[in-house]
Amino acid sequence: MKVFDLDMIKAVYARIPERVDAAKQLLGRPMTLSEKILYAHLWENLPGKPYTRGVDYVDFAPDRVAMQDATAQMALLQFMQAKREKVAVPSTVHCDHLIQAKVGATEDLKTATETNKEVYDFLSSVSNKYGIGFWKPGAGIIHQVVLENYAFPGGMMIGTDSHTPNAGGLGMVAIGVGGADACDVMSGLAWELKMPKLIGVKLTGTLKGWASPKDIILEVAGRLTVKGGTGAIVEYFGTGADKLSATGKGTICNMGAEIGATTSIFGYDKKMAKYLMATGRRSVAIAANKIKNYLRPDQECIDNPQAYYDEVIEINLSKLEPRINGPFTPDLAWPLSKFAAAVKKNKWPQELSVGLIGSCTNSSYEDLTRAASIAQQAADKHIKAKAQYTITPGSEMVRFTAERDGLLDTFAKIGGVTLANACGPCIGQWARHGAEKGERNSIITSFNRNFAKRADGNPNTHAFVASPEIVTAFAIAGDLTFNPAKDTITNEKGEQVKLDPPLGVELPPRGFDVIDAGYQKPARSGKNVKVKVSPKSDRLQLLDPFKPWEGTDLTGLKLLIKAKGKCTTDHISMAGPWLKYRGHLDNISNNLLIGAVNFANDATNKVKNQLTGEYGEVPATQRAYKAAGIGSIVVGDENYGEGSSREHAAMEPRHLGVRAILVKSFARIHETNLKKQGMLALTFANAADYDKIQEDDTFDILGLTTFAPGKPLTVVAHHKDGSKDEIVVNHTYNEAQIKWFKAGAALNLIAQGEVA
Ligand code: F3S
Repeated sequence: MKVFDLDMIKAVYARIPERVDAAKQLLGRPMTLSEKILYAHLWENLPGKPYTRGVDYVDFAPDRVAMQDATAQMALLQFMQAKREKVAVPSTVHCDHLIQAKVGATEDLKTATETNKEVYDFLSSVSNKYGIGFWKPGAGIIHQVVLENYAFPGGMMIGTDSHTPNAGGLGMVAIGVGGADACDVMSGLAWELKMPKLIGVKLTGTLKGWASPKDIILEVAGRLTVKGGTGAIVEYFGTGADKLSATGKGTICNMGAEIGATTSIFGYDKKMAKYLMATGRRSVAIAANKIKNYLRPDQECIDNPQAYYDEVIEINLSKLEPRINGPFTPDLAWPLSKFAAAVKKNKWPQELSVGLIGSCTNSSYEDLTRAASIAQQAADKHIKAKAQYTITPGSEMVRFTAERDGLLDTFAKIGGVTLANACGPCIGQWARHGAEKGERNSIITSFNRNFAKRADGNPNTHAFVASPEIVTAFAIAGDLTFNPAKDTITNEKGEQVKLDPPLGVELPPRGFDVIDAGYQKPARSGKNVKVKVSPKSDRLQLLDPFKPWEGTDLTGLKLLIKAKGKCTTDHISMAGPWLKYRGHLDNISNNLLIGAVNFANDATNKVKNQLTGEYGEVPATQRAYKAAGIGSIVVGDENYGEGSSREHAAMEPRHLGVRAILVKSFARIHETNLKKQGMLALTFANAADYDKIQEDDTFDILGLTTFAPGKPLTVVAHHKDGSKDEIVVNHTYNEAQIKWFKAGAALNLIAQGEVA
């Protein structure tokens, strides 16, 4: 089944040589792969001078958009407001996050299809209408499906999920974004990114024994820590890189998200060509081969990386020992030989309760064959897994092929249970029996994240991350202190047996196969397709455009909350149980700022309603102001809105009638999101003026009739005792963004066809 867009890929390849050659002239030096792809995807012509990495903001033109079902809802509700006939770039939706793992694949999928029917109906119909490829529940996990069908060397994509960088395994710059960004690109607008810094990772040698690609990223995470990749692209190269399978490369790029990297990438090589051919994309491999030097870093960058990357790491794969990372954070890396001692020293629960393999990170055919080779040995040697053991295939194609080739049967022989082709336990969609008791226990997964509560909601579950083969060996032993490289296990006959290192098969010798991959092709013309949203739904709500600016200064605004200290997008729009309402703006607005600390009483979700003098919850208080036709203002501290790029944090205050957010400083993405939604995002010219704001203040915002770039506005704070403070506030609106404010939202302008 061919779902990729060869014409688009060929068009990109036709542009790359000319653009890269021109960029090289501008830079006056050899180029890394990331730079080649970024400069080849500039929205506008080359600038007069090179962009400064880590400083300049640049507009890009991505080739693709991918969305998962949880984040796609708001992205597509917004896209509908843009009034486009179809998406401007090839886009896909993948139903993977909402399927709960409970019994096993078939049953769980059936339950999810019923429980989430309204969401799936909406996503299927909206995709059909606007030319978006729709991958049904059970089709697989977004990143695996993208790797198998859409990723291509030298391409650029954005995806509404943090592990979008998985596509770097096929040489693509693939970046995780919020729904508003996806909406912009689907509407035909540029996408802005700060020119990333570059971390080079030089791989030499060859992986041996139990070591696998997963161990490379576990090692990198240990060295760079969870923040070490922030604002950077991690680019892998060297003789060791070219020996790794494309899916192994995907695993490494996927988990770059765990070190905060913008994305991760490998250069095009024979392994990628092989994978493209095995997945029905011979034509893409042929096209890529024609420009292959443009799809790799220049040799000078490989030979002398210190001169071209901001930071360089070297790893000799021949010496790399398997790693087990955790608990509670993915950057606590333990070499296998030291792990048992760490378990004992730290008194982590030694008995292993569950081993889980698969997920978007590690569910390739190669991964499954390596894990199955361990399971088969155990079966041959009369051992069953002592811990529970689950397998999450990444896609129906992998699952079908693995079943055909007997791999799933092999897992079943030792007690393995195959779950649906979906995120499941990786995103907490796991009805784990007894987790609510909060008992201390250990699990080990081949997933990517292991923060407290992520898999089963139990804060006392110690989750560790390792390769699928190590997870399988541990599940067989049922003991965290087991070292498969040297220890023996007692089998059912009381004999001591040892497991040999895993043997994997990179690609299925009989080829991949699938009967129904779960893909729905969009209608050729969506004109008569109706988007399905029930007016009674509590999970989905069509959006109404926000009202345009009234053309006057804003007066009589009440203080909703003066937030003290850290106020991230999680404080503004909490996740957890609220995820369910991601597609219903009014319902999710009931979490507005409930995590923010009120400076007046140090409490969360307790603010004064100035109309009644009573204290109440933030959303309820704001709804009272809205009902009375009174606007409000939120005041905040430094770096307001840091964290995820979730657009709900900007849409909720806008929806409930907050007019301005006035802070000491903004996290940039949130500031832009506020501007897009037609809010006023303002900063104190003098940070100390934050202290002048009092609980009973009423505000006027002056200067809006002459709102202009670089020109400060004035906020007058009227205090309860009759005194007032005139506060100078700055903003970073450019001409185009001022138009967004005046129109009521960027989308309103787009809908009018007036793209600034
Ligand atoms: Fe899903 Fe977990 Fe990957 S939530 S997209 S399998 S990181």
